[in-house]
Amino acid sequence: MNLRLLIASAILTAGLNVNGAIADYRVVPLPQSINLSPETSDCFVLGNDTKITTPKALNSEGEFLRTYISALPAAGKKGEVELKLGLRSDNPEAYRITVTPKKILVEGASAAGVFYGLQTLRKSWPVDISEPVEMPVGVISDSPRFGYRGAHLDVVRHFFDVNEVKTFIDMMALHNINKFHWHLTDDQGWRIEIKKYPRLTEVGSKRPGTLIGRYGAGTEIDSIPVEGFYTQDQIRDIIDYAAKRHVEVIPEIDLPSHMMAALASYPELGCTGGPYEVLCTWAGYKDVLCPGKDKTMEFIRDVLTETMELFPSKFIHIGGDECPKDRWKECPDCQARIAELGIVATDEASAETQLQGYVTRFAADVARKHGKSVIGWDEILECEDIPQDAVVMSWRGIDGAVQGTARGHRVIQVPNDYLYFDYYQSDNMNREPLAIGGFVPVERVYSFEPFTDGMTDDQKKLVMGPQANLWTEYVPTFSHLQYMELPRMAALAEVQWIQPEQKDYHDFKCRMPGLIANYEREGYNYARHIMDTDINYRANRDSGALDVSASVYPGSTVRYTLDGSVPDETSPIYLNPISLNRDCVITAAAFAPDGSVGTVVSDTLVVTASTFGDIKLGCEPYSPFAFGGADALVDGLVGNDNFRSGRWVGFLGDPCDATITFRKPSEVSHVSFKTCLVWPEGALEFRKAEVYGSEDGVNFNLLATLDNPEQDPEQGNGAYLHNIEFEPVTLQAMRVVITPCEPSGMWKRILFVDEISAN
Ligand code: ACM
Ligand code: ZN
Repeated sequence: MNLRLLIASAILTAGLNVNGAIADYRVVPLPQSINLSPETSDCFVLGNDTKITTPKALNSEGEFLRTYISALPAAGKKGEVELKLGLRSDNPEAYRITVTPKKILVEGASAAGVFYGLQTLRKSWPVDISEPVEMPVGVISDSPRFGYRGAHLDVVRHFFDVNEVKTFIDMMALHNINKFHWHLTDDQGWRIEIKKYPRLTEVGSKRPGTLIGRYGAGTEIDSIPVEGFYTQDQIRDIIDYAAKRHVEVIPEIDLPSHMMAALASYPELGCTGGPYEVLCTWAGYKDVLCPGKDKTMEFIRDVLTETMELFPSKFIHIGGDECPKDRWKECPDCQARIAELGIVATDEASAETQLQGYVTRFAADVARKHGKSVIGWDEILECEDIPQDAVVMSWRGIDGAVQGTARGHRVIQVPNDYLYFDYYQSDNMNREPLAIGGFVPVERVYSFEPFTDGMTDDQKKLVMGPQANLWTEYVPTFSHLQYMELPRMAALAEVQWIQPEQKDYHDFKCRMPGLIANYEREGYNYARHIMDTDINYRANRDSGALDVSASVYPGSTVRYTLDGSVPDETSPIYLNPISLNRDCVITAAAFAPDGSVGTVVSDTLVVTASTFGDIKLGCEPYSPFAFGGADALVDGLVGNDNFRSGRWVGFLGDPCDATITFRKPSEVSHVSFKTCLVWPEGALEFRKAEVYGSEDGVNFNLLATLDNPEQDPEQGNGAYLHNIEFEPVTLQAMRVVITPCEPSGMWKRILFVDEISAN
């Protein structure tokens, strides 16, 4: 078999780099175009003795390449890699790699472009690099979809030292991520040296302990001190380190809330004057900066000014999230400021909300005087009057991005339900280290589309790009940090870099072994969930069955059972999709070549009169929680306690109004459905359910109603089954209307429904 066929077959079989020392340019993120030369099966042989030629402006990139190839043995052949500027492209980060038998030319529209070309080169190497790498002849052309490709790190809740922060930046660079959002201040610590306010670090960088367990589950604090901050010299060193890797560092000073560490240092900046303490727990405070005091506004100006003088970025993040207004309501200084500014409460915004707008405008003015713009969390939109140059970071879902762009603001997409890497990455929480909650597996990250529903073309132009956030309340060590980031960062990289039409999760997984080899080489810890199998389901109305397919990670085998038993090495091997039309329990697991068995996954299929019926919804589901859409309600699979599992369908404000035409007329006297309640996260109970029946599929009569009394805040989280009984009747179709409760509180309230059964 010649080399080209060998490569082609490797890609076809698994996309896995198993062919000795041959490179595969289908890396993560996937380059836009890869043209392997059809005429030749030749390769350039790359080794640690390969000559590197660079112009002076690319000396730093040349050094990186020298370091990368030092991991390879000698090629023992003549040949060079030339790095070059001047590639003509509309995209400043574009690159092109031209491989011939004698030379690899890496051209960039900028040094950053060349740097990304080098990342593609090193990621293309096979898993085994004990031999020189054979780089197939061809041309790779690439450029990113978004100019803003962010990663956020909270160094407050737990502190990470300079070397760890540098490694985080290395991880970003490996994934072509170019904006480091550095969350430097919060209630639990102040981590940036500010020379004008030395107590911020003398006092504010230290806390005596940390809450044990999850917030809300207990109040005990351990006695392990957490302290640390970065001197301005260390910060300059990190900025320089990042710049060499084409990463811009954007500092965040979170204000006017999340300021307990500053208040503990300078109590006069608060409404009550204190005393205050650096928090050892994660929430439950009311104290924030007092914008009624001139001294506080001076503090904001001074701290932002010193920070901006340190960081070359054109942006400074000023926080703005989660600001309780309790103290401001009672503070004479704040009320005097409200009067002085002529603020009048409106239906949309209280006087105190508008007072926060005053703080946002003040900070934005300070930034503008330094030629910079502010970024704020989406709460800044709660005040109408915020500066047009303020960038909105949409974290409570996508609404901040939709509303922000509608109001003409640039936005950055960080929706918690897709891009919060402090959320669980498995729905089996018992097997995971403690996390804040949520469920954001790799596939969920991958599925995020930054141009969300409800945006016009003009609004889309204001989307700077997506970013993932890592809050570290429950992330005490750097190794744990890497576990939370990797490989979700790889999925993020494809959301940020590649074009939507190139995205394919299955293909992405096939390309992951190559990237994981890089994690191994660099000594990064990473989560292994993508090596498990996922079972995918599709209700097939034509055949009246459930089509079941399992994902297979390159190199592993999936075995399954249908009787509820745990698969072992004698169980059938999954080869092709299977079709199921009877009650059963589907259980599967991935068996790796080393004999290890991945997580056992299981689902129960229950077939009733409504299962696989033709379903129409009167109101669209809420798009971030539409998952499998209407069909998920009649696919025979019942949702568990996790409303993000994909089994559930979410409705925002609207009822779940489902008309289901049965596959055949059936006698029915019992309809059931489930709702999923998760109080702190916005899932909502229903208020009323109505069942209508139709004998002809056209005319519907009310059969029964189920009322749900006031939503009880004491009601525990979880999935609840609701039953509606009535006199037996033979039906062709039924309509079930499930009306949600009234929403309340800061979060959206979403009604989650699954499996409407009838028998
Ligand atoms: C946030 O997660 N509080 C921005
Ligand atoms: Zn005040």
